[in-house]
Amino acid sequence: MNPPTTIVIFGASGDLTERKLIPALFSLYTKDRLPTPFHVVGMARSDSSDERFRQDMREALETFGNGEIDTAGWQSFSQSLDYVQGDFKEEESIKELRARLAAIEADADGKGNRLYYLATPPFVYEPALLQLGDNGMVSTENGWRRVVIEKPFGHDLASAERLNEVAHQVLEEDQIYRIDHYLGKETVQNVLVFRFANSIFEPIWNRNYIDHIQVTVAESVGVGHRASFYDGVGVLRDMFQNHLMQLLSLVAMEPPASFDANDIRNERVKVLSSMRPLGRQEVLDGSVLAQYEGYQSEQGVEPKSRTPTYAALRMFIDNWRWKDVAFYMRSGKSLTTKSTEIRIQFKSVPHMMFPGASLQAIRPNALDLCIQPDEGIHLRFEVKVPDETSRMRSVDMEFHYADAFGPGAIPEAYERLLLDAINGDPSLFTRADTIELSWQWIDSVIEAWESDDAPELASYVPGSWGPVEADQMLASEGAVWAMGCVHE
Ligand code: BG6
Repeated sequence: MNPPTTIVIFGASGDLTERKLIPALFSLYTKDRLPTPFHVVGMARSDSSDERFRQDMREALETFGNGEIDTAGWQSFSQSLDYVQGDFKEEESIKELRARLAAIEADADGKGNRLYYLATPPFVYEPALLQLGDNGMVSTENGWRRVVIEKPFGHDLASAERLNEVAHQVLEEDQIYRIDHYLGKETVQNVLVFRFANSIFEPIWNRNYIDHIQVTVAESVGVGHRASFYDGVGVLRDMFQNHLMQLLSLVAMEPPASFDANDIRNERVKVLSSMRPLGRQEVLDGSVLAQYEGYQSEQGVEPKSRTPTYAALRMFIDNWRWKDVAFYMRSGKSLTTKSTEIRIQFKSVPHMMFPGASLQAIRPNALDLCIQPDEGIHLRFEVKVPDETSRMRSVDMEFHYADAFGPGAIPEAYERLLLDAINGDPSLFTRADTIELSWQWIDSVIEAWESDDAPELASYVPGSWGPVEADQMLASEGAVWAMGCVHE
């Protein structure tokens, strides 16, 4: 018999398990991509049982799954769901968990592979890692052992370093899977394919042809039921340190020698280590932090909170390819619409040969990588208006995933990431050095904004495109924010 593979979810009664993990695992199961035999053991303090856990997960699937549920499939999948009620800090609970795992692995003479998933609040990561280590639960004698650590990975550089230290006390780096779910998105993975499986873009992907790059992660939702968590975090820690930095590194990196995890991760880290360090004044001159109106009256938010819900930052990558090309990054909650996109803004033509037209009248080419929700790629170029001598207009050539691959072809990011963790492919996970470099940069921005003479946060109307100050920052450099993937 094959040794079983078990995913042990710590914090199994939380949102993540029902919204993302179980729907993703069930989808993988119906696609026949999971190893057999496969088991899920959920552990949490909430009072529950195997039966209730299965029932709750079935209901979650109805709410958060991607369509009709294959009843027979669920019947057999749910038989592999177990629940252990307990607190992993207590001896008794760990004993019970170990007994459950031993029962699962008994048929294979005690052999079995295990993926431990820390879906708990972040303050639990360290004790959970230590507990796994102290109880010999990560020893690889009887099968592989891996640990997935959810974000946020630390609160700043010091805490991220400390968490890495603890993780390394217990595990080898290749057993640690730090998740950033943006890397699991199809369209994010496609940035590499688009850049390196086509020969026509790479020669112009540099400072000679590109004027600047914009990365926008706009969300229409406010802070909702996560307000008390979010208020201690803010947009820089919640979105920039991880998701936006990952997008930046994929757009800016050099071609890796191979698709091997190490080659790709080495190139990603090189981008972050080439980011121009900025002094306090440079940070303040090149950034806008803002809060949406009404944020302070959200339930769970401190009445005088200075937590930013929006940020726009200008950064530079000091290497041959990108020297002095501005990367404008912005993200915010309660904006007009949800859209994640990357704009490659090319330079204007050097000389205008058409009579009557001025250089300013024609718009430079732009390429938009539309990450979500209308996944695709748009290329803007000029065409001649028919029946006119030299008048021209910009048009978009658009590729939409839904047209090419049909609706629903794009899987949830967690499917890819869980499968990769089970298969031992860490390419889409974040290495210790990347996390630390990214914190180091974000810390410098946070410190500047927490200094005594930092300006007040700007404010913006919910449902708008953010504060005017962010528009002014770009306008002063001759640029405008682009929303090339959203057609109003
Ligand atoms: C999470 C943040 O990491 O990403 C949330 O904590 C944010 O605040 C979410 O809403 C956005 O993810 P997605 O996949 O909806 O863009």
